[in-house]
Amino acid sequence: MTDWVIEPVDAARGQVEIRVPGDKSISHRAILFNTLAVLENGGAARVVNLLDAEDVMRTVVACEQLGAQVVRRGDAWEVSRGATRDGPLDVDCGNSGTTARLLLGAVAGRGRPARLAGDASLSRRPMGRVIEPLAAMGARFSAAEGQRLPLVVTPAALCGVTWTSKVASAQVKSAVLLAGLLAEGATVYTEPSPSRDHTERLLTRMGAPLQVDGCTSTIRAGTLRPVDVDVPGDISSAAFWMVAAGVLGVAVTLPDVGLNPTRSGCLEVLAAMGLQVDVAGGGGDAPGSVAVQGSLTRGATIGGALVPRLVDELPVLAIAAAFTHGETVITDAEELRVKESDRIAVVVNGLQAMGVEAYATPGGMRIVGRGGEGVRAAVVESHGDHRIAMAFAIAGLRCGMRVRDVDCVATSYRGFLEQLRDLSPRSRAMSTDAP
Ligand code: S3P
Repeated sequence: MTDWVIEPVDAARGQVEIRVPGDKSISHRAILFNTLAVLENGGAARVVNLLDAEDVMRTVVACEQLGAQVVRRGDAWEVSRGATRDGPLDVDCGNSGTTARLLLGAVAGRGRPARLAGDASLSRRPMGRVIEPLAAMGARFSAAEGQRLPLVVTPAALCGVTWTSKVASAQVKSAVLLAGLLAEGATVYTEPSPSRDHTERLLTRMGAPLQVDGCTSTIRAGTLRPVDVDVPGDISSAAFWMVAAGVLGVAVTLPDVGLNPTRSGCLEVLAAMGLQVDVAGGGGDAPGSVAVQGSLTRGATIGGALVPRLVDELPVLAIAAAFTHGETVITDAEELRVKESDRIAVVVNGLQAMGVEAYATPGGMRIVGRGGEGVRAAVVESHGDHRIAMAFAIAGLRCGMRVRDVDCVATSYRGFLEQLRDLSPRSRAMSTDAP
């Protein structure tokens, strides 16, 4: 087990450019959807700037089991048809909720049985939200324990369904839309507020018979054609450096970041907290550049339809909140309780360990920022959650931090610590064996 020891930065650079790795959500979809396309229609697709991290590699291995050949050639990953595979699929999804949930939708109507398992964290996360709509379409599941992994999916003929989800979840939406491609009749899926729409954008590019009208997507049976994908930088990874800019007073430029409006809520919150946030380019899933400078002055209110647009950024936004002068209130974020850890409990405990006044509520948290006054070095457990580890590492740049058990960061962001060191010419951030 590895810990990070982050010493406070006494000499930050004035200006830093940081290039973040490829978007995780788009990387999963680019590989999985192209796998379905090449299995149905042949051909090949190139995916450039794929995120090379453990979660995405879980999807790559699953796609190879489905019958694709996924090969890295220079800066691109090529997806084509591989040797014919028979027999049941047996997929270890590791820590990756996106692999598990999207795959459930992809395999439910296909010819081979599948067993999906995950690590301890993923095995605790709710799968009922995917199982229920898919079962209503005719899919057949058996779970060893409740509606959780491990799950066995038995092939079944699917029919369309009209389904209204209680949660704004792109993973659930994607699973249902993928199943809808194999179902007889229309599948109509409505979510309470817009979640990330990478699935709808990519399926449309691939020729799927899909219509989107506000929060409702309608899909009919159809096949996909392979398409090349250029994966933009991950705004969820970029958010750590945006907050670092505010915490340290460094001007940070982030080139080639995905600025999809269903993902970019963190830019609005950081601007509301007083940072100067300048954006150039972007549009849809095309990348643009983000420049952040200034200081964190005010607290912010985060709730409602904004939450799905920044759900993965909430741990690091909570760190930003701790260094503002004012109160930040986060509501409507009960989904945080069922992420890789209970992010409400874990973030609030970590902030309290740093000496920050913070309170957990059932659906969010309240943080009283005092400009960093009174914050102190702390030891914080990651709970195996990559975004918790990285968020508290950013806090450590100001107050010092030991982040315990950081191996989980490899699920989404190899090279994070090296980039963190670039913020200061005299950085004393290091990786060390846990005592
Ligand atoms: C993701 C959707 C979100 C997000 C996760 C990635 C995706 O989860 O938190 O990190 O790629 O579809 P939910 O669908 O559970 O909201």
